[in-house]
Amino acid sequence: MGISLLTVCYLVASVTFILGLKMLSDPATARRGNLIAAGGMILAIVGTIFLYEANGERLHNYGWIFGGIFIGGIAGALAARKVQMTAMPEMVSLFNGTGGACAALISIAEFRRLRRWPDIDIEALKSYLPKLGEFVQDQFKIQLGPSGGELLIILLGLIIGSVSFAGSIIAWGKLNGRIKDVTFRGQHIFNLLLLSVVLLLAGYILFSMDRGGGNIDISDLTVSMNKPVPAHVHVLFYIVLLLSVLYGVCFVLPIGGADMPVVISLLNSFTGVAAACGGFLYNNKAMLTGGILVGAAGTLLTILMCKAMNRSLKNVLIRSFGSMAAAAGSEAKEQGAYKEISLSDAAVILSYAHKVMIVPGYGLAVAQAQHACHELEKLLTEKGVEVKYAIHPVAGRMPGHMNVLLAEADVSYDNLLEMEQANEQFPTTDVVIVLGANDVVNPAAKSDPASPIYGMPILEVELARTCIVNKRSMKPGYAGIDNELFFRPKTSMLFGDAKKVLQDLLSEIKSI
Ligand code: TAP
Repeated sequence: MGISLLTVCYLVASVTFILGLKMLSDPATARRGNLIAAGGMILAIVGTIFLYEANGERLHNYGWIFGGIFIGGIAGALAARKVQMTAMPEMVSLFNGTGGACAALISIAEFRRLRRWPDIDIEALKSYLPKLGEFVQDQFKIQLGPSGGELLIILLGLIIGSVSFAGSIIAWGKLNGRIKDVTFRGQHIFNLLLLSVVLLLAGYILFSMDRGGGNIDISDLTVSMNKPVPAHVHVLFYIVLLLSVLYGVCFVLPIGGADMPVVISLLNSFTGVAAACGGFLYNNKAMLTGGILVGAAGTLLTILMCKAMNRSLKNVLIRSFGSMAAAAGSEAKEQGAYKEISLSDAAVILSYAHKVMIVPGYGLAVAQAQHACHELEKLLTEKGVEVKYAIHPVAGRMPGHMNVLLAEADVSYDNLLEMEQANEQFPTTDVVIVLGANDVVNPAAKSDPASPIYGMPILEVELARTCIVNKRSMKPGYAGIDNELFFRPKTSMLFGDAKKVLQDLLSEIKSI
């Protein structure tokens, strides 16, 4: 009865994960989807704690379990409440790292449990044999060692989980500037060799342990044990752990900070696979489904991000934006002069336009100017101006960054245009106002084959009649490259912090 109720809990939880993920794909349903999936996760956890049975025993170490849940829950809730939107990728990375560490710890615990098998009480076992003999006439063998499949899953969970843990911590350090890029000659060959050693050692462990084990031979009522697993195999297991952690560090160290969101998404998919390994080990369907969903979603997100930047995953992992920008920078062209616009002129142009397109970017998030931005939209709409937002898929620092940011300020989803729609509408737009965006509006992506962002689809803001660009200086954006747009005849620069500029612009427009 207990088990079947638990199976129902897992089934319901799995359905909520799938439903939640589906709802996350639309900003209007994303919040509810998140809550539904979280509810499913609570059900799976509570079900496991109170209904799970192994060898006729329920879980009993409630002090540890609830202590862990309490501490983890408080830390998670505080971190999620305090985190700035711009620091979200860092938090995701840190949480992803803990997921990888959990998967690796499960593998360590299960390995320790498996290696106890040669210590079984052979005398006690022998005493049962006559009873078994009454039922079984022929020779009857029972495998006493671990199965190869179980070991394979343990090793996979260990390797993938530790790589994901170490890689995520390095990604976290890079995002907050504590860890710098480290590159040296032959680094990728070194990494490949390291990974090969890890896989070879894991293969050796798999082979040696699978050949251990023992037999119970009913026909002559004897119990025989094969050779116990040699001690060095246990040591090798921990060497695989250490080398996997080292590989995780070396894998992420050379990748440019700019590409961290892609790496985090990739590591996220690793953690999903490692968690699915845990689901296999414990025959826990909710963990298995959850892990597979995270693995698949992380992989898809990685592919989508690469597509949106028009770069292959190999290019992201092997060539960083930083190094590419440095190479391109050596051939930097003289860009000429740029024009500035005053707040009052900008206010007039915006007020008398028919159609205005707002292009938000990372700077808008840094300035926390989303509310002021929404105020501008409302004020202009009251004046009869048609106002829309053009959203680039990789504007900001994480997938959906701009959508989440604008949703926070209650901007209607109906006013958000995807890149393709926005590009169709720019030729009929009077004024584009770019707020803290840079790379996603850089025409070099279309016109300069030597540019590191060449081929990345961009918002073609230069097609509008006028373009006002707000940023604090002429410094480059994420990719570290100059932007020709700022020097084009139709473009005017409006310097200053996005929030302050928008607030001043609001006062100016109100006074017209
Ligand atoms: P960026 O190219 O990074 O440009 C942001 C601009 O905002 C900067 O040039 C900066 O100029 C300005 N800025 C910073 N703080 C500001 C403030 N307080 N007020 C006004 N302006 C401010 O941003 P983007 O156009 O959104 O492009 C995103 C980049 O991230 C792309 O290169 C993309 O490939 C990369 N990326 C994104 C993702 C995802 S999933 N979103 C993933 C990987 C990589 P100043 O310093 O002069 O103010």
